Amino acid sequence: MRSALYVPGNRPDLFDKALSGPADVVLLDLEDSVPPGEKDSARAEVSAWLRTLTAARPSVWVRVNSGAAAERDLRAVALPAVAAICLAKTESAEQVRAVGTILGAHEDVPDRIRICPLLESAAAVLAAAAIAAAPRVSRLQLGEADLCADTDIDPGDRDGLLAVRTQVVLASAAAGIDPPLGPAETDFRDLDALRESTKALARMGFRGRSCIHPAQVPIINEVFTPTAAELVRARDLVDRFDAANGGIVFDSGGRMVDLAVIRRARRLLADAPAE
Ligand code: COA
Ligand code: MG
Repeated sequence: MRSALYVPGNRPDLFDKALSGPADVVLLDLEDSVPPGEKDSARAEVSAWLRTLTAARPSVWVRVNSGAAAERDLRAVALPAVAAICLAKTESAEQVRAVGTILGAHEDVPDRIRICPLLESAAAVLAAAAIAAAPRVSRLQLGEADLCADTDIDPGDRDGLLAVRTQVVLASAAAGIDPPLGPAETDFRDLDALRESTKALARMGFRGRSCIHPAQVPIINEVFTPTAAELVRARDLVDRFDAANGGIVFDSGGRMVDLAVIRRARRLLADAPAE
């Protein structure tokens, strides 16, 4: 899972287009990209389209509204084609549990639909550890636009966001869930900036990112796909470790290899797309 492409729920003309592209996840949105007056029709459109899907590839997630509208959204989209719910403006683990209970009453297979809480406020970031450990949560997603509005952090200042990003990465690792999804880059025409900011997220421990335009998908996929050289190096380290039989391991440059490095190499190999 590297890229999640948002599609506004009031744009059914884009649903099939998004599904046929290279995004790993198509993220249908019922929240802020849908104007208030179109919420009901968007929910109905999304629900109807989801019912036409059999085995959805790429996987399909739906971003639902928080608060009073959440239950209405969840009832309409807890369908077999949906792999996960992105819960906008998640603030607490209790909120996630409440969503899980509603899903439980509507989903086809008990406990199947995952929850990807979207953390986009100061309270959410401070509660990240508890939210990450809540039932059904498979990964966190960071929403920086609302967070910056909430906190007055300058959205253009990466230093200002560093502590927040790291907290979300640590909370995910501590809870044993997948690494978090990074925020969307709203300047969708500047693909060089996208590549650069995506690489920065990757270095910080994010493993995937949401996006809003199809042109962003291949770049995000590329940054989050290990290169052939990285895979060869990981394979070599694991082979050396196995051959050392519990003894000290050296890499091809003669440097001693820590066990933690082997663990990282194994994870890289396990996550690599099948050839
Ligand atoms: N999913 C699928 N297809 C999309 C798409 C999306 N999110 N965004 C654009 N496209 C399609 C367009 O329909 C167009 O297709 P065409 O070549 O067949 O005509 C093509 O990609 C190029 O689009 P372009 O003209 O460059 O963009 P646009 O001006 O039509 O749309 C946005 C720009 C930002 C309005 C649009 O990308 C969008 O709505 N993105 C999602 C926003 C969102 O969901 N935000 C909420 C989360 S922050
Ligand atoms: Mg938001």
